[in-house]
Amino acid sequence: MISSKQINDLLRSLAKEVSNSNSSEELETVRIKYLGRRQGIITNLFKEIPKLSLKDKKALVPSLNSLKQEAESSIEEKSASLEGTPKVSKAKTVSSVDVDDPTVPGIKPQVGHEHPTIKVINEIKEIFHYLGFGWQDGPEVEFDLYNFQKLRLHKDHPARDTQQTYYLTEETLLRTQTSNMQIRYMENHKPPLRMLFPGRVYRREQIDATHLPSFYQVEGLLVDKKTTMSDLIGVIDFFAKKMFGKKTKIRVYGHHFPYTEPSIEVEVLHSSGRWLEIMGAGMVHPEVLKNCRIDPKVYRGWAFGMGPERIAMLKYGIGDIRLFYSNDLTFLEQF
Ligand code: DAH
Repeated sequence: MISSKQINDLLRSLAKEVSNSNSSEELETVRIKYLGRRQGIITNLFKEIPKLSLKDKKALVPSLNSLKQEAESSIEEKSASLEGTPKVSKAKTVSSVDVDDPTVPGIKPQVGHEHPTIKVINEIKEIFHYLGFGWQDGPEVEFDLYNFQKLRLHKDHPARDTQQTYYLTEETLLRTQTSNMQIRYMENHKPPLRMLFPGRVYRREQIDATHLPSFYQVEGLLVDKKTTMSDLIGVIDFFAKKMFGKKTKIRVYGHHFPYTEPSIEVEVLHSSGRWLEIMGAGMVHPEVLKNCRIDPKVYRGWAFGMGPERIAMLKYGIGDIRLFYSNDLTFLEQF
């Protein structure tokens, strides 16, 4: 029968043998001797428990549990020191009791979750879905024709300078903006249209806290017979309030994009008291509609483009865009 003396002796001999092990193989032999599933000395003691009287059970089971725990942790520690790498010890709850006990609570598996950029893109989709917008992906390798020319950015257009482009050939490139999808979609669909085009874009940027050579954009497009600039601004205001909170204020001011006329930039009033730009927008230029075989005398459109990483930075107070790509769990687990 088991006795406390036996348990104490075992603790001592185990400690000695673990400390005398000079290689992982030797340590493994010690582990099997004490903890082996079939004939381990400690394992066998556990098999004796049902034969004990209630009194003995109360007296001995806690010491047996600590013996097993001690054996496991000392072997684990020694193994880490032999390998030269510290190991994270396993959850004690499972290792300290008989693994055949079905009532032992399991270990919660670590599950992944959405990346903050994807989370914000999904929120944008949800807000616009409420207003009747669908969404579609598009190609990241694009023709110059769709990324620039059909959007009225001809080969020598100065505005191309602002979008440092990765060219693949003279006529193909990595898209610098999701506005390419305005053209692709309008060419293939008849109005009325309400669509979002989320996706990745590429620019030859110097990397710093607010610039990366690849980032996301979400493009929006609406084409219909009667729609105006004030519909556009109303929709953006609705969007900003849903995204940043009911009291959010926006302001717009004139800007220039070759594919919209008139064009605006939109800012939101940040809690810091500063106005921060969130998107470019405007009425689709009649020539762009014509480029897609839509009659500008019958239809009008408006469009906008925003950066979801930027929106996430504003919403969550993130100071450095590089964090989105650092795969740092301390950062990611906050979302
Ligand atoms: N394409 C612009 C950019 O990359 C954003 C943009 C501005 C998109 C105005 C639009 C728009 O659709 O109307 O900065």
